[in-house]
Amino acid sequence: MPNYILNEIRQLATLLNIQGVFPTEKSKTASKPIKNDDCQLYCGDNLILLYQLLDTYESKIDLCYIDPPYNTKNKFIYNDSRTSKKTSCFGTHSSWMEFMLPRLILAKQLLKDIGIIAVSIDDYEQPYLRILLDNIFGEENFIGNLVVSRSKNGKGGKKNIAVNHEYVILYGKTNSANISGHLDDTSTYTKEDQHGIYKIDGLFRKKGDASKKEDRPNMYYPLYYDQNGAVYTEQQNHHCKIALPVDSHGIDRRWLWGKDKASKDSWKLFASENGTIYVKNYYSHNKKIKIRSLWDDNRYLTERATKEIKTIFGEKIFETPKPLGLLEDLIYSLSEKDSLIIDFFAGTGTTAHATNNLNQLDNGHRKTILIEQNEKISNEHLAKKMGFNYIADITKKRLSYIKSINPTFSYSIIEQ
Ligand SMILES: C[S@@+](CC[C@H](N)C(=O)[O-])C[C@H]1O[C@@H](n2cnc3c(N)ncnc32)[C@H](O)[C@@H]1O
Repeated sequence: MPNYILNEIRQLATLLNIQGVFPTEKSKTASKPIKNDDCQLYCGDNLILLYQLLDTYESKIDLCYIDPPYNTKNKFIYNDSRTSKKTSCFGTHSSWMEFMLPRLILAKQLLKDIGIIAVSIDDYEQPYLRILLDNIFGEENFIGNLVVSRSKNGKGGKKNIAVNHEYVILYGKTNSANISGHLDDTSTYTKEDQHGIYKIDGLFRKKGDASKKEDRPNMYYPLYYDQNGAVYTEQQNHHCKIALPVDSHGIDRRWLWGKDKASKDSWKLFASENGTIYVKNYYSHNKKIKIRSLWDDNRYLTERATKEIKTIFGEKIFETPKPLGLLEDLIYSLSEKDSLIIDFFAGTGTTAHATNNLNQLDNGHRKTILIEQNEKISNEHLAKKMGFNYIADITKKRLSYIKSINPTFSYSIIEQ
């Protein structure tokens, strides 16, 4: 294992007063073959496999999405119970942190400098995950914390609040990481003129810093508007009313543009009945807008994911799948059409499925690398009764399902 990674694990574990967990000797075996399929599924322990993937993919990955075990202590198909004796200030959470720390360090090494990591989590480990990510990726590279509504009614288990959200935490590998954004929703563009459809959502009066009349006196001038909302820099007729950049406290502010530009581009301005001047926000094809931190859509509901699993497998053979809609929107917003995406807690393989769907929609060439463990499924579990012996068998089945609906989808399976 490269010394710098060992050192980073050691240093951060010491800093956080938790145990450093390192890949075993076994991981030093030969690196993995390079495949060029739409999806590569690596079966085995992600600590070992991430380390082996470094050889080929160090600084090559655009997006890392993971949905790790949330440490719910529930009896799932995978181990979701990590509790330590209270040796560090993180109490019983330090065991989960020890599990995550080296994996997150390896994930960072795999990302390009402009790469992004997105981690699903709920309230229980969210603060501890943030501490890990702050230390590994740097507080300055924190991009945001998306709140995702996952059910309408929430879980009944809590005493006072029925929790119906979870999070997706975003960090860049460096501060040059950029989010490409959401596709704009055309239904919000309710107005139309000869230049296209538009909406009214931005004031033409400057707000905030340097917005006063005395800051830019040449940007303080009267505008004239008629009853249809058309705006002019010169008086047209005696029906036109005057608008000045005065705020609700009566303070003289200034417009966004000088008079010459306002005169040339007056078709981009719109006046409301009470004389508030706006800049028209025109729709353009494939326009992307900043993603919002609150994600609330029926396509993100856990019940959707359960339905999807039933459609694919016939039964609910996996307790914690993510909905396709959530992954499609995340991947769309956080990556480009040719991005390389890794998910090393792959579960049922939703990430590969969502990526395939997106590629089909926009002719993209995104590729995915999945890792899922080859843990034996217990005899009592429904998945076992349905013929799956190892957890990764479930991922394999979903990949064959994707191929059955899209024959051009290619995938390879690499055993550890
Ligand atoms: C919360 S589930 C992910 C579900 C997934 N997002 C989906 O939509 O199906 C976490 C997954 O991580 C896997 N996992 C846990 N520890 C692992 C390890 N050390 N190596 C590889 N996979 C692991 C579990 O088997 C489980 O399938």
